[in-house]
Amino acid sequence: MAKFRFLQQPFQLKNLQLKNRIVMPPMCQYSAQDGVPNDWHFVHYTSRAVGGVGLVIVEMTNVAPNGRISPRCLGLWNDTQRDAFKRIVDSVHAQGSKIGIQIGHAGRKAQECDDVVAPSAIHYGAEDFAGQNLKTPRELSKAEILEIVELFKQSVQRAVDAGFDMIELHGAHGYLIHQFYSPKSNTRDDEYGKDRMLFGEQVIKAAKSVMPSEMPLAIRISAQEYSENGFDSDYGVEVAKRFAAAGVDLIHVSGGGNGVLADGKHPEFSAGYQVGLARKVKQATGLPTIAVGMLDDAAVADHVLAMGDADLVAVGRAMLRDANWWLNTQYQQNASDAQPMQDVPAPYQRGFA
Ligand SMILES: Cc1cc2nc3c(=O)[nH]c(=O)nc-3n(C[C@H](O)[C@H](O)[C@H](O)COP(=O)(O)O)c2cc1C
Repeated sequence: MAKFRFLQQPFQLKNLQLKNRIVMPPMCQYSAQDGVPNDWHFVHYTSRAVGGVGLVIVEMTNVAPNGRISPRCLGLWNDTQRDAFKRIVDSVHAQGSKIGIQIGHAGRKAQECDDVVAPSAIHYGAEDFAGQNLKTPRELSKAEILEIVELFKQSVQRAVDAGFDMIELHGAHGYLIHQFYSPKSNTRDDEYGKDRMLFGEQVIKAAKSVMPSEMPLAIRISAQEYSENGFDSDYGVEVAKRFAAAGVDLIHVSGGGNGVLADGKHPEFSAGYQVGLARKVKQATGLPTIAVGMLDDAAVADHVLAMGDADLVAVGRAMLRDANWWLNTQYQQNASDAQPMQDVPAPYQRGFA
């Protein structure tokens, strides 16, 4: 019996061709120095390509030193970083996968940072976030906002030059783009406060201006906030529609991250807990979506695709546990002659025979 009618199917968006529907979502490794990817990143990402993932998305990579979550996060604000990424891109390609990169700015969630900036001088809400003290940010001036838009553009240009197949902007989880579109963290009275989605729109347009027209641009959004006074998914859909109109090709639908989790505000964290958000965004925008959140039970993930709730599924923590998650998943589900396994590298085939 065929168990993976959908996960094994190829996918095409503009000139991005994926051999299956499996995405490794961005996951910070906090293992870089000066924002430069190193052997850890090389092995980490190449291993998932060996493991047959259709699309690897490199962790949040930042447009400026004070845009990093930690001093150990990746950056793309100089050419040394770009050249180090190129080695990873080439290696992932050599193993038959496609690779994107998530470009972002941490805003008020920057830790161990002397110059923490945000749309408004509003503290995150918890003194202790991920074991680090968060500071009250200072409010960005209008000129600084425009500079950050330009920094996004330059980082995207470097990502294109490094050979990435797609770009994902980090507009989720309480980082800078999200901070701007959220009423919780943006109380400005200038145009960036009157129109909270303007900053995200400007970043999207700046990114597209340096990308080949056939290279897809994705944005990850939090389609619902999971904290006190957080916005609901109707507002999340408005954000998605605005960013779709600005020109993104694909929406990676997540949630939360802009404040401490509040009872009754978040879904139960069980299999596919954010799929409803992906469905809603897909229906409202007509754009393809990536669903994420506890989708490592392949039957659940296949069902998400079967129902048309999303076009791609991302599997995060399970891929930290197992670089060969996709190969092992097919093997354990008794892939048979009727439905042979896909994506097994030749040197590993005896292991999956
Ligand atoms: C160690 C770790 C680092 C993460 N870093 C990022 C990141 O850089 N960017 C991002 O958008 N999400 C990040 N996430 C969230 C994941 O991409 C994913 O959305 C989340 O883990 C839920 O998917 P899962 O249940 O399959 O793990 C991170 C998650 C983990 C566990």
